[in-house]
Amino acid sequence: MNLKNKLNEFTRQKRGLLATNYYNLETLHGVLKAASALNEPIILQLTQSSIDYMGLETAVKLGRTGLEQFNVEGWIHLDHGASVELAQKCLDAGFDSVMIDGSELPFKENIKITQEVVKRAQKYGAHVEAELGYVAKLGQSHGKQGFTQPEEAKAFVDATGVDALAVAIGTAHGFYKEEPNLDIDLLKNIAKVTNATLVLHGSSGVPHKQVQMAISNGICKVNLATEIKNIFMKTLQNELSNNEEIDLRKVFPKATLQVTELVKTKLLMIKNQSNA
Ligand code: 13P
Ligand code: ZN
Ligand code: NA
Repeated sequence: MNLKNKLNEFTRQKRGLLATNYYNLETLHGVLKAASALNEPIILQLTQSSIDYMGLETAVKLGRTGLEQFNVEGWIHLDHGASVELAQKCLDAGFDSVMIDGSELPFKENIKITQEVVKRAQKYGAHVEAELGYVAKLGQSHGKQGFTQPEEAKAFVDATGVDALAVAIGTAHGFYKEEPNLDIDLLKNIAKVTNATLVLHGSSGVPHKQVQMAISNGICKVNLATEIKNIFMKTLQNELSNNEEIDLRKVFPKATLQVTELVKTKLLMIKNQSNA
């Protein structure tokens, strides 16, 4: 099924769909083993940094062949695309979905850049996500955060025809200094006035109850990145601090396994909410 239909179906059923970032073979396989074990669909996301790290073709092919290898239903998505040019490159490379992140642009310019990507993506039958309101980037203070306004969200979706919209309702990228407190009433009001798939960015560090509340009130796509990097690297650091093993094929699987355990927990958390 294409991603648009899947997200429409899940949105109707008030089900969440997990979108996880991958950075290398190990984090990819960690995620895919979890999705495969639980027979759940998954969105695999690449940021510009991950694309630069692996190379565009390699990154996409790794994701695509991984989905086949582990027999998982999934899609490749550009996360936080900063320009039309990058979105275009990803469309050409066969991405199923691209995000154009104009959240730091003035409203009208965000509309313009999103319209352009929507137009280009149509030719590929690809799915498009945009962001309105501002979810603080990694390492930024959360103070800059401007929450998404429902009327603006409606106007934005109507003007752009975008498939999915990242909303700012109290999350931030990375871990939190204080426990976040999602504005569920605001989310309800956004969901009431727009048919776009709503996306929760910054789920790392958000208490599971709040993620579940968000899903039952309109969020469909749930983005997870930092917790994956964190568990992978923490496990590696721990493994290496007390052994001299140089065969990376013996060490990396321990970190991959922890990614699998983490993602299984998240998939079950989302699934339990969806069945509630
Ligand atoms: P976290 O790093 O907080 O999980 O956010 C992920 C994200 O929003 C990716 O777009
Ligand atoms: Zn994000
Ligand atoms: Na976060």
